[in-house]
Amino acid sequence: MGKALEGVRILDFTHVQSGPTCTQLLAWFGADVIKVERPGVGDITRGQLQDIPKVDSLYFTMLNHNKRSITIDSKNKKGLEILERLVKTCDVLVENFAPGALDRMGLTWERIQELNPRMIYASVKGFGPGPYEDCKVYENVAQCTGGSASTTGFRDGPPLVTGAQIGDSGTGLHLALGIVTALFHRTHSGKGQRVTCAMQDSVLNLARVKMRDQQRLTHGPLTEYSQYGEGIPFGDAVPRAGNDSGGGQPGRILKCKGWETDPNAYIYFITQAPVWEAICDVIGEPEWKTHPDYAKPPARLPRLNQIFARIEQWTMTKTKFEAMEILNKYDIPCGPILSMKELAEDKSLLATGTMVEVDHPTRGKYLSVGNPVKLSASPSDVRRSPLLGEHTEEILRDVLGYTAEEVTELKTVGATEVRKKEAAE
Ligand SMILES: CC(C)(COP(=O)(O)OP(=O)(O)OC[C@H]1O[C@@H](n2cnc3c(N)ncnc32)[C@H](O)[C@@H]1OP(=O)(O)O)[C@@H](O)C(=O)NCCC(=O)NCCS
Repeated sequence: MGKALEGVRILDFTHVQSGPTCTQLLAWFGADVIKVERPGVGDITRGQLQDIPKVDSLYFTMLNHNKRSITIDSKNKKGLEILERLVKTCDVLVENFAPGALDRMGLTWERIQELNPRMIYASVKGFGPGPYEDCKVYENVAQCTGGSASTTGFRDGPPLVTGAQIGDSGTGLHLALGIVTALFHRTHSGKGQRVTCAMQDSVLNLARVKMRDQQRLTHGPLTEYSQYGEGIPFGDAVPRAGNDSGGGQPGRILKCKGWETDPNAYIYFITQAPVWEAICDVIGEPEWKTHPDYAKPPARLPRLNQIFARIEQWTMTKTKFEAMEILNKYDIPCGPILSMKELAEDKSLLATGTMVEVDHPTRGKYLSVGNPVKLSASPSDVRRSPLLGEHTEEILRDVLGYTAEEVTELKTVGATEVRKKEAAE
């Protein structure tokens, strides 16, 4: 069985998180991803949040699986020549530098098209064209400017950012889709194209339901938000909805047995209308099935705090896993709050490859999140991330056809390595 993207070669000029997320996905699907890094330095994340001194950090290793690493100084004349040769042989160039950085290197879109008209040139930027287009952007900036933070948190508290990296990894996912779409388009057009994803746009896309609510708000209050039941008027923008469910069915996070000492002894519980009668039976309130204050969803809306307090009395008598088991029998939608520790120890996630153990020459064994996308006919394995410049010679020789003498010359002039004199300074 071949890998889905075998034969696709990617010039990976990405760093930090958003770009590497994208190229890692493509590498998992079988693309030959050649990561270009600055000699002697590499992707800044190699050295960030290091848990073991002088060993590539988990930040780096978990975002750069299945890639090859070549070191090239793009500001060195010979270095730029290597890059241009790579542009000629690759199908896709992916980058997420600050706006204008690639142009300043001399790799403008016009130049890239001249070198290789089939090239797909994909970029992540913080913002699209407009007042902020020149800004450098990181994860939380995107969460805040894309509508996520203003709609996350509790009504009486400040805006909150989420733990899921929707700005970085979310944009990387969007970009990966743009790249495979452009690759498909190229099969009949024969031409490459520009693919751009702004982090603000990607977050906004993921916060789509909140833009839905913004427009609903002009026609009346958002009845499924807790504040409606509590009689608190709405302003002119979508408010933070705490743990209310976004789908219109009332939902809350409720305490389970052990919550006093375990910060994750909670369950998400949805009082979905079709299973309301089952909920009443499970929690021991069978009369609520017919009582006019509880039987129908509109009657329950002003009483949600009282209803969830009663349900919580029941969930507090069960562990989150016991509650899940009981509720699932009745198709009552719920989900235990799983800690990272619990997920790391989850055998079923290891069995599907969503969690994987990887061996690394300097780090040893570590756990990583594997490929969450499963293709039935195309295998995808997870291989360790490359050491800095590990494949420089191999790529120069086998991909670009440089001779051994030329490879040595490129090192000497500082195109692929820090010049000895400079390194000593
Ligand atoms: C993430 C970000 C804020 C980091 O900013 P930064 O650390 O200052 O890095 P920059 O992107 O500005 O690039 C730094 C410089 O390194 C240079 N550089 C990168 N690789 C190089 C190489 N191999 N050889 C020589 N120079 C190199 C770039 O050309 C740039 O130089 P210039 O400013 O003189 O043109 C910025 O890259 C950015 O906004 N990216 C787009 C949005 C994004 O992806 N953000 C999320 C990241 S997870």
